[in-house]
Amino acid sequence: MAVPKILVTYRPPGAAIERLSRLGDVDLWTGDETMPRGDLLARVADAHALYSMLTDRIDEELLSRSPGLMVVSNMAVGHDNIDVAACSTRGIPVGHTPDVLTETVADTAFGLLIAAARRFREGVDYVREGRWGRWEPNLLWGEEIHGSTLGIVGLGRIGEAVARRAAGFGMRVIFTSRRAGAAAKNLAATQVDFAELLATADHIVIAVPLSEATHHMFDETALAAMKSTATLVNISRGATVDTDALVAALRSGRIGAAGLDVVDPEPLPADHPLLDLPNAFVIPHLGSSTARTRIAMANLAADNIAAALAGRPLPASVNPEVIPRPPPD
Ligand code: DGY
Repeated sequence: MAVPKILVTYRPPGAAIERLSRLGDVDLWTGDETMPRGDLLARVADAHALYSMLTDRIDEELLSRSPGLMVVSNMAVGHDNIDVAACSTRGIPVGHTPDVLTETVADTAFGLLIAAARRFREGVDYVREGRWGRWEPNLLWGEEIHGSTLGIVGLGRIGEAVARRAAGFGMRVIFTSRRAGAAAKNLAATQVDFAELLATADHIVIAVPLSEATHHMFDETALAAMKSTATLVNISRGATVDTDALVAALRSGRIGAAGLDVVDPEPLPADHPLLDLPNAFVIPHLGSSTARTRIAMANLAADNIAAALAGRPLPASVNPEVIPRPPPD
């Protein structure tokens, strides 16, 4: 094969670019903003590999313009930005980055849970605004974490890692999942249906991938079914929650608090009503953001491309039934 062209839509951390450069000609988008759609479509036209970010939309339009594309490798575990079925139809393997980020994202879930349920944002504001006059026995009471019931929506890799942490906090864990894995037994977690989870959990962590089935699963009805003291933590994708309904529920006190790593829309405009709410603790999609984890993700995404270009199965494929094409001579 002529030297393959690898389109990379954002400079990945670590040495991934050097690795990719040994595999082919790297075309790296170096703009400050997400690669504009027009540039992406133009530059993918003659690409053999696409190293994408979760902010790039990989759809039928893009695939129809890149006839030589042999692999799409997303530097994320989530792949809701990719039309995987369309890739599979065209025989294109899709790579992602599971496992390497599991524990880090679970740490973030617990950080958000504690920060939101224990009212850390209001505490920080209280100090910064000079209102801290003395120690007060009844100041900013939050909700207990230890001994409470945690509801995990989606007991995949990250959900399980959250459940393990919950055990250390002496929490009872209930979960919903499409599969009742063996891990649930080891975790002493109890599978329930969604309605029971909403009604029973003191706190809820959303750890389910975004799909048509999970889009807005936390809508006005679901939020109204939660305990009024409950905290909702989202570490999956913002669109699993109806943002307008969440703002209304937080504002009215229908639920206690929210700890959000992901929101809809992303990025959230600085004047968004969610940010005015003292019971919303929002961070900018930092779930996997440590140097070690992000570099591991970048390397795994590069490994996926290396495997596909060599005609080998990807180390982490979303559609493993698609066998990479052997490299042309
Ligand atoms: C992912 O990998 O899907 C995460 O959202 C990134 O932090």
